[in-house]
Amino acid sequence: MDSNKACDIIIFGGHGDLALRKLMPALYHLFQDGHLCKESRIIAVSREKLDTAQYCGLIAEKFQTNFKDDSFDVDVFENFKTKLFYLSIDLTSKDAYAGLSEILKECPQNERINYLSTAPSLFGTICKHLYESELILPTSRVVLEKPIGNDLQSSQIINNQVAEYFKESAIFRIDHYLGKDTVQNILALRFSNMLFAPIWNAQYIDHIQITVAESVGLEGRWSYYNDYGAMRDMVQNHLLQLLCLITMEPPSTLKGDSVRDEKLKVIRSLRCIEGEDLRLKTVRGQYASGVSNKEAVPGYLEEDGGNVNSDTETFVAIRADIDNWRWNGVPVYLRTGKRMRQRYSEVVINFKDVPHSIFPKGGECIDSNKLVIRLQPEESISLFIMNKVPGLNEGMRLEQVELDLNIQKDAPRSPDAYEHLLLDVVRNNPTLFMRRDEVEAAWVWADKILDGWKEQKVKTKPYTAGTDGPAASIALIERDGRSWYEK
Ligand code: BG6
Repeated sequence: MDSNKACDIIIFGGHGDLALRKLMPALYHLFQDGHLCKESRIIAVSREKLDTAQYCGLIAEKFQTNFKDDSFDVDVFENFKTKLFYLSIDLTSKDAYAGLSEILKECPQNERINYLSTAPSLFGTICKHLYESELILPTSRVVLEKPIGNDLQSSQIINNQVAEYFKESAIFRIDHYLGKDTVQNILALRFSNMLFAPIWNAQYIDHIQITVAESVGLEGRWSYYNDYGAMRDMVQNHLLQLLCLITMEPPSTLKGDSVRDEKLKVIRSLRCIEGEDLRLKTVRGQYASGVSNKEAVPGYLEEDGGNVNSDTETFVAIRADIDNWRWNGVPVYLRTGKRMRQRYSEVVINFKDVPHSIFPKGGECIDSNKLVIRLQPEESISLFIMNKVPGLNEGMRLEQVELDLNIQKDAPRSPDAYEHLLLDVVRNNPTLFMRRDEVEAAWVWADKILDGWKEQKVKTKPYTAGTDGPAASIALIERDGRSWYEK
């Protein structure tokens, strides 16, 4: 049982997709595992006209169909229900907050968490109404879901609006990739083992690859996605956060600002991609119809709600360079896309070749070492090293072998990213949340590319759904004499 303080957790947008698919299951699991104090309450707020009983019925139905393991327990759910309230209000109307105020005053808790799982355009309005309805306590925190804006300017506007009512230390900007156990394991791998520390630099590492591939398409999110595209939806946040964890300097502590200071330095050291580099170092793609998981699937433009004129990218590949001493000359290749061959997220650290081969046939038979960190769907860490083929071969024959560094094969259920992050908000621990300057620095870098694409009219390249993206993304890395890692 956790010693967390009792708190009221208010989910704005409580009927939305994220709340039903991620937030409510995460809160249920935290409750089931004893991480939520008994007096804590969860108040889902949304426009849909439901009462608490109907909302609980809806949640139960979703849990029963969506939980893949046996973690749905009827008795636990009966208890969980007693903590849950639903309130149907128009979030844009100040008067509507009176209902929320009533529930909160019935049994006031000292800690209050406002989770804004709504369109970002509502963030400012909700904060204002909370303030004017005197619902912000000195201990109140606000959680902001991405996307925070769609460029630097719009993110500054949203951040300014929220900052009028909450101080920076009370603002928790979520990037759910940071809540994944496997992503946090990057910190453990790098900073609790001496083994890799001395070789984690340009002297020993040739290049790094970060791939986040999805096999799903739009999943009915056209109206959101078409305005954002893969660059804003994935690269500006999730991929940059992975890049930061892999390349940042060791922070002096695991506390919020130490880690975030180091990540910020990396983002600020990313070289701008502009001018003719745009066409050499970036690729935009858009999926056409194809076959995914053995089923015929429509192309992006034929998706529900689609618009045949859209040139929104569903795939991005980028060669990023970090201009600092540690990473001088070490490119980081980023790649993400929807409707790709398979769903996987992976970081590959490619080490340099040995400087001179003493083995027959020159150096051709010596593959460089690789550290492959697979983040999902399964978690694994493998080190590829050269080894002698056993036996009495003439000369010395070598082969690459995989050292499996996994130690957690039979680990219990791995908590979902949102469980981890929600618990950190309850515990008031900001380490895994993005600070304003970090988000804005990421927009500065991403905006340069987005603006360049627009100015230079860089069009998307089509790729067949169920493949590895456009051929141009292979050319991007091959121009540098390298290739994407394929297991
Ligand atoms: C979200 C994006 O942030 O991350 C989605 O908006 C994407 O488009 C999702 O599908 C991927 O998350 P995960 O955890 O499934 O890799």
